[in-house]
Amino acid sequence: MKFIDLFAGLGGFHVALNALGHKCVYACELNDSLRKIYEKNFNINIDGDITKLDIKKIPQHEILCAGFPCQPFSKAGSSQGFNHKVAGKMFFYLIKIIKFHRPKFLFLENVPNLLNHSQGKTWNFMKKKILKLGYEVDQKIVSPIDFNIPQTRNRMYIVAKKNKLNGFTWPKKLKPKNNLKKYLSNNPKLIKEMSEQRKNAIETWKFFLTKMPKTKYLPNPLWSMEFGATYPFENTTPLKIKLKELKKMKGKFGVSFKNMNKKEILENLPNYSKVRTEKYPDWKIKMIKKTRDFYKENKKWVDKLMPKLINLKSEAYQKFEWNCQGDKFNFTGKIISFRPSGVRVRRNNSSPTLISSTTSQVPYLAWKKRFMSYEECLKIQGMEKLKYYPKTNGVFFPAIGNAVNVKVVYKIGKELFN
Ligand SMILES: C[S@@+](CC[C@H](N)C(=O)[O-])C[C@H]1O[C@@H](n2cnc3c(N)ncnc32)[C@H](O)[C@@H]1O
Repeated sequence: MKFIDLFAGLGGFHVALNALGHKCVYACELNDSLRKIYEKNFNINIDGDITKLDIKKIPQHEILCAGFPCQPFSKAGSSQGFNHKVAGKMFFYLIKIIKFHRPKFLFLENVPNLLNHSQGKTWNFMKKKILKLGYEVDQKIVSPIDFNIPQTRNRMYIVAKKNKLNGFTWPKKLKPKNNLKKYLSNNPKLIKEMSEQRKNAIETWKFFLTKMPKTKYLPNPLWSMEFGATYPFENTTPLKIKLKELKKMKGKFGVSFKNMNKKEILENLPNYSKVRTEKYPDWKIKMIKKTRDFYKENKKWVDKLMPKLINLKSEAYQKFEWNCQGDKFNFTGKIISFRPSGVRVRRNNSSPTLISSTTSQVPYLAWKKRFMSYEECLKIQGMEKLKYYPKTNGVFFPAIGNAVNVKVVYKIGKELFN
């Protein structure tokens, strides 16, 4: 069948549908560099901005594929949905194209948050629009890990067929296997460099773990700035009490507020504590309490590491997320990602979601002492056969993080077009 690839990106839909024997007759993508790469990979002219194209010029097709921009619905974005200035409108452009061309199948992808956005109202509204055009629609949250592709990446897949879906069923989940290693290379080519600050963060937390008593519990997250802090957090908050009172207390890493002015005090409070509220939410109180209790129990050895932790400077490095309860306290076989919420450590059974909004969360393979390479990221997205791909961090990582997983699309497509 003939298909079109809207919001084409790196061409995840294209690769999967080609493999299923279908032919791309039209594509559009806003980003210039991605467009050039798409043309070289697939030998096809590709249009730009969907809002500017002449719908009538899109060739006749049976399948419409679109991973429409997801920032307005994603948790990482501001969740504005349809109110979003431009991207929220993309759905309406899709509807226009569907209305005009009436393809037999629709195959869409978005972030899982779309399903519950605005208490489910957004998706309900969208679904109704598609139904009204005479399609039967189904949707499901699917992740590559469901099919033993080692990436946790929940995405909402939407399938629709004119009239009826005719017994379409979603591909069945497979029994989990720990196979990330099969996707990694011994001779990786392109690898993102690691900053000195990050190297330092890894070394510091690695060292911290060597000191961690085997029998003790490591809270997750651990907000090390709370070590030695005594500012109030349970019944009130530091910005709500009198300065005179606050001066009797201690801030980040136990620094005394005694001789500080207001500005200095503010600089020595963790960022998350500086909200003007009578009381923190329960989850925040719990997190702070856990770290402070941990500190009380482990003060003797933790105090010796305090200068190293202070030297990490950024709070994102001073927070530690040990997602491996029950494992030995070391980085052997672990994947590390640098997130605004902290240095996150997880087991290596799968890669964390490759995300598009920042180039800084590329998974770091601790046992290989390097980030996941470009080629490895392509492989866990099922795009290893792409001949051309962006060669700079600033273009590559957002694009691969935006891409649809080829193997997931292939599996769903196989059932849908049957
Ligand atoms: C979620 S990504 C889709 C990725 C694609 N499915 C893939 O496999 O790589 C959305 C894409 O829509 C593109 N885009 C955003 N606004 C657009 C517009 N107005 N017209 C065409 N493409 C647009 C973005 O540049 C981005 O590459």
